[in-house]
Amino acid sequence: MRMYDLIMKKRNGNELSKEEIDFFVDGYTQGSIPDYQVSALLMAIYFQKMNKTETTNLTMAMVNSGEIIDLSAIEGVKVDKHSTGGVGDTTTLILGPIVAAAGVPVAKMSGRGLGHTGGTIDKLESFDGFSVAMSIEKFIQNVNEVKIAIGGQTADLAPADKKLYALRDVTATVDNMSLIAGSIMSKKIASGADAIVLDIKTGSGAFMKSEDDAFELAREMVDIGTNVSRNTIGVITDMDQPLGFAVGNALEVKEAIDTLKGEGPEELTELCLTLGAHMLVLGKKAKDAQEAREILKDIIKSGKGLQKLRELVVAQGGNPAYVDDPSLFPLPTIVEPIISTQEGYVKAIKADDIGKAALVLGAGRETKESIIDLAVGIVLHKKIGDFVKIGDAIATIYANDSEKQKVAIKMVLNAYEIVAGKIIAKPLIKGIVTKDGMTKF
Ligand code: URA
Ligand code: CA
Repeated sequence: MRMYDLIMKKRNGNELSKEEIDFFVDGYTQGSIPDYQVSALLMAIYFQKMNKTETTNLTMAMVNSGEIIDLSAIEGVKVDKHSTGGVGDTTTLILGPIVAAAGVPVAKMSGRGLGHTGGTIDKLESFDGFSVAMSIEKFIQNVNEVKIAIGGQTADLAPADKKLYALRDVTATVDNMSLIAGSIMSKKIASGADAIVLDIKTGSGAFMKSEDDAFELAREMVDIGTNVSRNTIGVITDMDQPLGFAVGNALEVKEAIDTLKGEGPEELTELCLTLGAHMLVLGKKAKDAQEAREILKDIIKSGKGLQKLRELVVAQGGNPAYVDDPSLFPLPTIVEPIISTQEGYVKAIKADDIGKAALVLGAGRETKESIIDLAVGIVLHKKIGDFVKIGDAIATIYANDSEKQKVAIKMVLNAYEIVAGKIIAKPLIKGIVTKDGMTKF
């Protein structure tokens, strides 16, 4: 087989066979096929696209390029959740405990990553002593005993995807649906998931700016999952403003605790109930989403979700006293309200800009070496549709550096668009994609 022939075949709009896809993925991972030939093939794929069979074959070739985590020693259906990313997304910290409390095993491999705030692991490290360092045996034992464990991504998962994603990033070939869907699904499948619930964000703060693109990406990912016998459901959700109120690390953990107490932001609670309900159905703990939702509401109401968070923190060496006394979480030296100089209704809050403001404060990583400040961030007090008077606090800033604080305040004020006419907030859940079809709300 010659790489040249594969490039020409795809350039001319023909389908690549499984053997051809395996050949280029293996060859690129091993280093026997050079960047320039794979770049050319990626550009051909970008223009000519891949069909469903090719997309599935590409995904599995990337899965098979590295380690595949074997979670078969965990009892029950392992349902994983993936979010395509947004600003202030605290869902894992809430979903993990409530779903585990319902009896669905949560075996979560999480990353740290670059971003506006840290990843789930960084956030959990706000609990003094919390650690993800454990053997895979201990990880599995914890899931069997506590029903939930959060591990670091130590395994060499889908190395082909890492290499291809980096190459796509510098050759303008990231935004092809097959390539994105395959990239995300390969990592989920390699981390041992039996079933997958996808939270596909759309809006100003999301990777998928348009709703149609978000539905198309969901369709693509659900079809891959279905083709390889991983029951997959895609939920399309709004990311036109940050999720909930808090953007930061310790701040988001506190928000998660509030939500587990039943006192969280309405839309964050709604998102967790929706995603969690699908996880329960896929995990065979409820017959339908309606029944699952009632189970989850009960878990929040009875305090079982909060108790599960305590158990998770204890199992991984953290101090659970923080759950009952959030004043123990790290606090910054500066806590200051941001005062509105305008009156009217909030029409938009540019989620990306709020995220960037959090990054400026030190809540996230700009490079792999950046050190995260767990205490800093932003808590919004006004969301889309709310009325604001001059002098109202639209947000509170948590900072450890007065220069950075000044810059962040400007960014937050600029992120708000306030208008005279009444604004009705759009619904959070925009639709659902399953193997049987698509529902738009
Ligand atoms: N996230 C991924 O993991 N892969 C992509 O291709 C795009 C977003
Ligand atoms: Ca939040």
